[in-house]
Amino acid sequence: MDAIRLRGGNRFSGVIPIAGAKNAALPLMAASLLTDEPLRLANLPGVADIASMKNLLVTHGVAVANGEAAGEASFDASGVRDTTAPYDLVRRMRASVLVLGPLVARFGRARVSLPGGCAIGTRPIDLHLEALRRLGAEIDLVDGYVEARAPRRLAGADFTFPSVSVGATENALMAACLARGESVLRNAAREPEIVDLGRCLIAMGATIEGLGTDVLSIQGTDRLRGARHRVIADRIEAGTYAIAASMAGGDVTLEGANPETLRALLDTLAGSGVEIAENGDRLRVVSPGGNTAGMDLVTQPYPGFPTDLQAQIMSLTTVASGASRITETIFENRFMHVPELLRMGADIRVRGATALIRGVSRLKGAEVMATDLRASVSLILAGLVAEGETVVNRIYHLDRGYESIEAKLAACGADIERIAAPA
Ligand code: EPZ
Repeated sequence: MDAIRLRGGNRFSGVIPIAGAKNAALPLMAASLLTDEPLRLANLPGVADIASMKNLLVTHGVAVANGEAAGEASFDASGVRDTTAPYDLVRRMRASVLVLGPLVARFGRARVSLPGGCAIGTRPIDLHLEALRRLGAEIDLVDGYVEARAPRRLAGADFTFPSVSVGATENALMAACLARGESVLRNAAREPEIVDLGRCLIAMGATIEGLGTDVLSIQGTDRLRGARHRVIADRIEAGTYAIAASMAGGDVTLEGANPETLRALLDTLAGSGVEIAENGDRLRVVSPGGNTAGMDLVTQPYPGFPTDLQAQIMSLTTVASGASRITETIFENRFMHVPELLRMGADIRVRGATALIRGVSRLKGAEVMATDLRASVSLILAGLVAEGETVVNRIYHLDRGYESIEAKLAACGADIERIAAPA
């Protein structure tokens, strides 16, 4: 297992190209199951989760062909013969459950393993199943698998999500596109990745209104066609590097970022003394480094402060001037980075879903352990400013969602390298 070694203290300046959004690409790839014509995607990020989803689609019988340019691939589901998503694949990547809606909508059946929990929480899929049941699917749980059937095609429904769920909204949105009649999905998630999925579905012939709002109206159709679609930029990658520049100090331009999708973070950083300049899809972050002002924030569904940037912003607060409070409302166990940050000399106290952080003048490098994707990157950020050397182990978590992170950071002056983990 690889590790990443950093030596902290360098200022951070340069240009970072932002990759396509992992959390948009995954549902977009699943959407290829909705049609028997090729779906061509561009700007797919080179991260492990994309490879995992390609692998799952291939087991279903989707013909996946990489395009000429990096990040391009076509997905042809005309030959799908197997509607089972096996436990061994689903347990490795929860987003595999996004094949459930498309499979049952197009083929009238699906057998998808329950994903099981992960480091940040139990992460049930009851909202996915409730939405599909309202669309007419018969659903049983058998031997750890969801067995879904729609012998007479799905039927449009008016459904209100009891709580906001990105994945459940995506599964229901995709399924409703092939249901008979109109569907209305209320209390739907509004993340930019869902808007991107909706735009692609419309290009495939779907009729969808309300993208970007919490009420989605879908007019079902008998079939969808192939399309070409470019994945939006990854707002979480961009936000991660904006926080890195804010911590280390420097002048960084994020190329391809869409500031509109990062409003909550950018307002938070500006409020703590970081200079932000927006110029189309170039986002410039200038910071004196360290002693940014403390903050009090609560993670919320979009457009609130994203839970996927919570661990990263907490790293920033560990070296901010003064006290900060961070409340995590989306996942029940998303403070796994705290024990590792404490080992680097951070001053953090967790009370239930709230962490109280007092800024320290300097973190100390240490050997630390990654536990999940965003926790691992928060340790990288801490290592950028810590005194001495930091080694982050189990960085396979990192490779799931960050493309070439050490190359991008080194290009901005970070003293960072990937090493074979000490035996
Ligand atoms: C998506 O996960 C993202 N993953 C997550 O990003 C992100 O943290 C999350 O949305 C919230 O923004 C992808 O898009 C692939 P949810 P998802 O359904 O869809 C509970 C990353 O780091 N819930 O919005 O699984 C759930 O347990 C990953 O890139 C139910 O109770 O998130 C959680 O507490 C991590 N029942 C809350 O809702 C359900 O049926 C929000 O989950 C579904 C969810």
